[in-house]
Amino acid sequence: MKKTIEHIDVKGMKVLVRCDFNVPIKDGKITDDTRMTAALPTIQYLIDHDAKVIIMSHLGRPKGKPDMEYTLKPVADHLAELLGKDVVFISSPTVVDDKVRAAVDDLKEGDVMLLENVRFRPEETENTFDFSSELASLGQIFVNDAFGTAHRAHCSTAGVAGYLPTVSGYLIDKEVKYLGEALERPQRPFVAIMGGAKVGDKISVIENLLNKVDTLIIGGGMAYTFFKALGYEIGQSILDEEHIELAGSLLEKAKEKKVQLLLPEDVVCAKEFDNDSESAVFSKDSIPADMMGMDIGPETVKLFSEAIANAKTIVWNGPMGVFEMPNFAVGTRKVAEALAASEATTVIGGGDSAAAVTQFGLADKMSHISTGGGASLEFLEGKVLPGIAAIDNLEHTDENVELYKHIYAAQDKN
Ligand code: 3PG
Repeated sequence: MKKTIEHIDVKGMKVLVRCDFNVPIKDGKITDDTRMTAALPTIQYLIDHDAKVIIMSHLGRPKGKPDMEYTLKPVADHLAELLGKDVVFISSPTVVDDKVRAAVDDLKEGDVMLLENVRFRPEETENTFDFSSELASLGQIFVNDAFGTAHRAHCSTAGVAGYLPTVSGYLIDKEVKYLGEALERPQRPFVAIMGGAKVGDKISVIENLLNKVDTLIIGGGMAYTFFKALGYEIGQSILDEEHIELAGSLLEKAKEKKVQLLLPEDVVCAKEFDNDSESAVFSKDSIPADMMGMDIGPETVKLFSEAIANAKTIVWNGPMGVFEMPNFAVGTRKVAEALAASEATTVIGGGDSAAAVTQFGLADKMSHISTGGGASLEFLEGKVLPGIAAIDNLEHTDENVELYKHIYAAQDKN
């Protein structure tokens, strides 16, 4: 068990909070603030409990140099709107300097400050002691709530934990609860749905999941590499050539483990990679040589939906087709609808599947949508995430177990 903010007294304390405010910004405006709203419960808790809140985040990859294209100023403005209060922001090219230190010293209980993009410093991604201690010197307690960046061992995610008592925020706690319980204590049948273009990107996740799930559904672009491994012709469909053999061995492993592995029975194929291209449905073994698979077909939707309807735990990562094109979004939408209608605990890995569920207006029908793309994949691979490993452990006493139950119960109500 990890220590959370509810295990410490934050009143009057300078609390350094790592959030993942790496959000999409266009013309100075944030186009998707999901990651920011997901961090609000932690920030609000700290405000309500009279902490002095100093938030750190990265934005994009400015390559260790101050670059105003990646300033967190728009994030500070938006955070002020979300919280309905001022957010102190000093755009320091070195992130920490005398002006920043003075502003931290001026903070009153319940005040909020956001530091400039920590990736303006080259040391951040190198996880060096000097920048970690510089950041840590601003606070007395470190709260890590940046699940989206928990797979990075950087100064602001892991390094500072070497200098300060470290606890998790509500977001990390919730992510670990849903992803962790799905992997370790799933209600069965446990169904995982994997999609996306390349097998190579998800080999380790599939390998780990084959030890855990009852059914593994494979759709999306990666299905064609599995088709190839089974000897089908796939026409112009996307192929992850170097992983054909591996796809074959994953099929074997599924058999050995007695995992039901479902591949598409039929696919929607098009002549061109274009929404308006001529298209038709073909069975898996009759894809024409001059066409490419763009989506799963109606028989497959039925097959996958049945497995979903019978499941008690579902983890979904990766779309079923080219869902960005409306004519090839049907399969992904139908799978999202099947999840929304199911009684199972539904956990959506970040990235494209999270975007798809939101695009279809079904986000509030899911038990949990992860805010981490890379982080949730690494978690599902069974890897230890450095940002989570850095959080202090809580002694395993009956009292602490009860407190945990209380925290989770409160979160479930939210
Ligand atoms: C993400 O968007 O996945 C996280 O914010 C991590 O960003 P990074 O891949 O640039 O480390």
